[in-house]
Amino acid sequence: MGLSRIAQSVGESATLKLNELAAALVQRGEPVLHLGGGEPKSKAPAQALASAAALLATGEVRYAPPDGIPSLKRAILAYTEEFYGRLAAPENVMASGGAKQAIMVCLQAILNPGEEVVYPAPYWVSYPQMVSLVGGVGVPVHAADGGFVPRLRDIEQKVGPSTRAVILNSPNNPSGVLYPRDLVAEVVDLCERRGLWLIMDDIYHRLVFAGQKPVSSWELASDRSETSKLVLINGVSKQYAMTGFRIGWAVGSRALIAAMTKIQGQQTSGPSTLSTPAAVGALKEAHSDVESLRATLESNRDLMVEHLRSFNRVVVRPPDGTFYCFPDFGAYNKTSAELARFVLEKARVITVPGVEFGMDSHLRLSFCGSAGEIREGIDRMKWALDPGAPAEIEIGGRRLRRDWV
Ligand SMILES: Cc1ncc(COP(=O)(O)O)c(C=O)c1O
Repeated sequence: MGLSRIAQSVGESATLKLNELAAALVQRGEPVLHLGGGEPKSKAPAQALASAAALLATGEVRYAPPDGIPSLKRAILAYTEEFYGRLAAPENVMASGGAKQAIMVCLQAILNPGEEVVYPAPYWVSYPQMVSLVGGVGVPVHAADGGFVPRLRDIEQKVGPSTRAVILNSPNNPSGVLYPRDLVAEVVDLCERRGLWLIMDDIYHRLVFAGQKPVSSWELASDRSETSKLVLINGVSKQYAMTGFRIGWAVGSRALIAAMTKIQGQQTSGPSTLSTPAAVGALKEAHSDVESLRATLESNRDLMVEHLRSFNRVVVRPPDGTFYCFPDFGAYNKTSAELARFVLEKARVITVPGVEFGMDSHLRLSFCGSAGEIREGIDRMKWALDPGAPAEIEIGGRRLRRDWV
């Protein structure tokens, strides 16, 4: 059909595919429960909405600088100082159409074809695709103990002559693991020693539980000058429940940000002018919204973990943060894709197969929905999978009997 090699090689996002399937089932009137989603259900902060509405009311929504308007940059700089202890300049900041675009443009600015990017597994589904869109090669690192936290040695073993960058996402999508401060410090040091870029994807960093605090990689770095190759990625999507506004950012050296701004300027001319005041409103004034979302997620996590523990054969590690849990269903002797399909067909529950995150036998379950959805979703899964569960259940007003286990 004349499509490029890149177009043919890039896979569709599994999460988006599932969202489409869920929408189709809902349209058919099926009682689908969505434990696969990747966004908080709360409303965007009032301050964000008011700021965007004020700009909209002027009727003058124009082009803006490709790296972000000054007030957004100021808000990002204040955020960076507060949460990372980094005093940066406007030239160290590029706002973008979501953290995803900030990471993508960063990869375009640092990678040559064939060069490698190392990241721990399980990893966000998009990293391998984004790296290959730039012509690079994604190199996942699996922890030697089969868990979610690699040792420095596991990571270092994957670093070779073609490695250009490491990506760390903490707390992690999909495992919810917050990498220990010591590991982050070791990876910062490794990257400094080997001259590698370190992309810290901190999009969930304030959504952490049990009094844990986000780790500031910047404070662990020994090079805090303009030669630093540490790139801080963040955004408003998750912590402020503003996924549709598409505002994220990168903070890095002036040289990197200048290169990224050049690239972004040719691609999209920067983030939407209408969304930027909304992000400024959120960053400046919506602190209590983040805390209230965080507290709700913590109680949802407790509920999900408690329900999962009632399964006989599921291994669950309580997530430290995010809104995802990544239990191991390996005892069911199915691949994660088979298991996700089975759970959808039998119990009408949407989950995301672990294979998409580099760890088959797991399923990613989101706890960003309501307590009722979490309870019912896990109960339905238990009915479908666990021979110890009662054989009958009511789903969408219909009484169903399990006759397969
Ligand atoms: C680990 C991770 N990084 C980045 C993103 C993208 O965030 P944004 O909506 O700001 O593009 C996501 C979204 O799911 C994510 O899970």
